[in-house]
Amino acid sequence: MPAVVVVGTQWGDEGKGKATDQLGQSVDYVVKFNGGNNAGHTVVIDGEKFAFHLLPAGVLTPGVVPVIGNGVVVDLEVLFKEIEEIESRGKDTSNLRISANAHIIPSYNRTLDRTTERFLGSRQIGTTGRGIGPTYADKMNRVGIRIQDLFDESILRQKVRSALDQKNGLFLKIFNRPAIDPEAVADELLSYTERVRPMVVDCSLLINDALDAGKTVLFEAGQATMLDIDHGTYPFVTSSNPTAGGACTGTGVGPTRIDSVVGVVKAYTTRVGEGPFPTELTDSIGERLRDEGGEYGVTTGRPRRCGWHDAVVTRYAARVNGLTDLVMTKLDVLTGHATIPVCVAYEVDGRRTEDMPLTQSDLHHAVPVYEELPGWSQDITGVRDFADLPRAAQDYVLRIEELARCRVSVIGVGAGREATITRHPLLG
Ligand code: GDP
Ligand code: IMO
Ligand code: MG
Repeated sequence: MPAVVVVGTQWGDEGKGKATDQLGQSVDYVVKFNGGNNAGHTVVIDGEKFAFHLLPAGVLTPGVVPVIGNGVVVDLEVLFKEIEEIESRGKDTSNLRISANAHIIPSYNRTLDRTTERFLGSRQIGTTGRGIGPTYADKMNRVGIRIQDLFDESILRQKVRSALDQKNGLFLKIFNRPAIDPEAVADELLSYTERVRPMVVDCSLLINDALDAGKTVLFEAGQATMLDIDHGTYPFVTSSNPTAGGACTGTGVGPTRIDSVVGVVKAYTTRVGEGPFPTELTDSIGERLRDEGGEYGVTTGRPRRCGWHDAVVTRYAARVNGLTDLVMTKLDVLTGHATIPVCVAYEVDGRRTEDMPLTQSDLHHAVPVYEELPGWSQDITGVRDFADLPRAAQDYVLRIEELARCRVSVIGVGAGREATITRHPLLG
């Protein structure tokens, strides 16, 4: 299986970092294709914890080439901070490559993101405040700044000036903030040029050549299906395409070259930020999931909203992404519940649906229809074979597999690399 895409199936934080790191041990390239430092991916190796925002999780494996694809938005200050941090922990990042076509997050877009959220008040999205939305908006609006612009100073200055021509009007007249000096922004960006230069590549050429040479490539998504700008709970979404199609547009690799699409799914559900979440638990059970699952954002530290597994969402993700496999994480966190409800359908205005409702208004009103599955009480964190899981835990996995219409190939029973049960090898 030379080309494998890894995506989130819910609202993010499913454990993509761990899945990517594990697969990354047997691949040659790990390419991040969407999002930016709104992501927070955790990898735990021998008890040591690493949190990635911009670097592909593959950076931890010696010999792997980590690549930041054209679909990513790059905050250069964050990039070099992350590189320094990981180097200081003894990891080598010299293989890192960045697409010449990736867009840069200029500091004014961080300001704009945060100011817009404050301005929206109760209608805010709950963004990470990292400038993601405004930078993708600039890309679509054709006023974005790309990595390659660092190598042409006059073009870069011209582009920053013309972007700020519009934005300074907003800052001054709408948001009542001081105008931003374009030359200072350009100077700051240009200060990174020589450090970026050796990393810059034609991502499409690099990855297609690698595939031609029989290399194995893993495409790592940030965010998740329900946060997708097209397929998620719009407008409570991020501004990129974290679904499988994004792996193609975000790297310059055609769909015919992709061999498998792996969806990472939590055994229950979490969400950070605003927006609909049908199975959310606002009671003590939700708090218990948050405590026992350590559900606090890696990027912003915000408590994550928690709820039961929503199989309507998982089935939807299987369809939208064309999933070939699921990796189910955090099954261990469900240990100790007498019964575990799973949402198998929604009721919308008295009508039952097993598919995602057509409109956002209907999703806002969707009432989950639950099936109660028996729980288990034995500690499962040391289990490495599916057959050694308690019967109820096996049945829980099998029922979700059936509801999702996609096989569960790998199961996580702890945060560490080793805490994994493999039913079907993902690179087989
Ligand atoms: P990502 O954004 O999808 O990479 O996920 P995050 O890193 O934001 O959040 C997932 C959290 O769950 C991290 O703290 C992981 O270390 C942890 N984790 C991943 N898989 C498992 C698992 O199977 N069991 C437990 N208990 N923790 C896990
Ligand atoms: P990983 O890759 C969870 C959410 C934010 C907000 C919405 C828009 O770790 O799974 P943005 O800053 O992207 O404009 O915010 O998307 N969000 C995430 N939630 N995990 C993430 O990444 C997220 N990245 C963005 O909380 O609701
Ligand atoms: Mg995360």
